[in-house]
Amino acid sequence: MQPKTCVVTGSSTGIGRGIAERFGAEGCEVVVNYRSSKEPADETVRRIEEAGGSAIAVQADVTDQAQVDEMRDRTHEEFGGIDVLVNNAGINQDIMFEEMSHEDWDVVLDVHLDGAFHCTQTFYDDLADADEGRLVNISSIVGKGGNLGQANYATAKAGIFGFTRTLALELAREGSTANCVAPGFIRTRMVEELSEKVKQRIEDDTPLGRLGTVEEVAEVVAFLASDRSSFITGEVIDVNGGKDL
Ligand SMILES: NC(=O)c1ccc[n+]([C@@H]2O[C@H](COP(=O)([O-])OP(=O)(O)OC[C@H]3O[C@@H](n4cnc5c(N)ncnc54)[C@H](OP(=O)(O)O)[C@@H]3O)[C@@H](O)[C@H]2O)c1
Repeated sequence: MQPKTCVVTGSSTGIGRGIAERFGAEGCEVVVNYRSSKEPADETVRRIEEAGGSAIAVQADVTDQAQVDEMRDRTHEEFGGIDVLVNNAGINQDIMFEEMSHEDWDVVLDVHLDGAFHCTQTFYDDLADADEGRLVNISSIVGKGGNLGQANYATAKAGIFGFTRTLALELAREGSTANCVAPGFIRTRMVEELSEKVKQRIEDDTPLGRLGTVEEVAEVVAFLASDRSSFITGEVIDVNGGKDL
């Protein structure tokens, strides 16, 4: 991967941290975004710097346009325009639909969809002006297959597919690409919170017989963010151990 300037939303922990570390190891300048977990974000920056990379932690709630604007200003001050945006920040608030409140619905759609809207809108000119800009959105296997108790999350993640394909058409006019990665069940705090019984069932239902790792997702994101993916756009790449819901 040619060294690039990359913003990874929600990279204080989990998949985002794995992506940020991978970019750092490739010699990129990395903006480690987080909402409230400052210490883990600082730890991500420390790991990137220790590996010889360059990074800053920037607090911004992606649901808040003003905070995202501040993140862009801080990014531009430190590194100038960016080449790569990874919309990764995410939450889940699982509950069967019958019990789901409008607030449960809104809070999840806000982070995944409004968050992707704000960040992509704010960094759109950077991606368009970059020499082969790269937008990578993190969706989920659940966006394709649905999942019990996740009507809000599945709807948000399915929305990301349409968002990616449309941005791919629009960014193509600028020579830039937009792609999506749809992970299966990956060993992060989002999945660690599930009961042992549920985790075991997921492993049993996965042809490769285990949960995925953040490194396995980061590998695909790094490819999509690189010059090696120059003729790929509007795609959804599954990273799910062969599991279809
Ligand atoms: N784990 C899986 O099995 C799996 C599978 C498919 C897709 N995904 C997707 O992968 C992405 C990362 O998930 P993960 O498992 O790595 O979760 P995670 O470890 O809980 O990390 C979530 C990250 O998002 C950040 N975040 C949450 N709300 C935010 C907001 N409003 N503004 C800015 N940052 C925010 C968190 O920061 P704070 O801690 O500061 O809030 C944290 O850095 C999500 O989009 C998720 O839907 C995960």
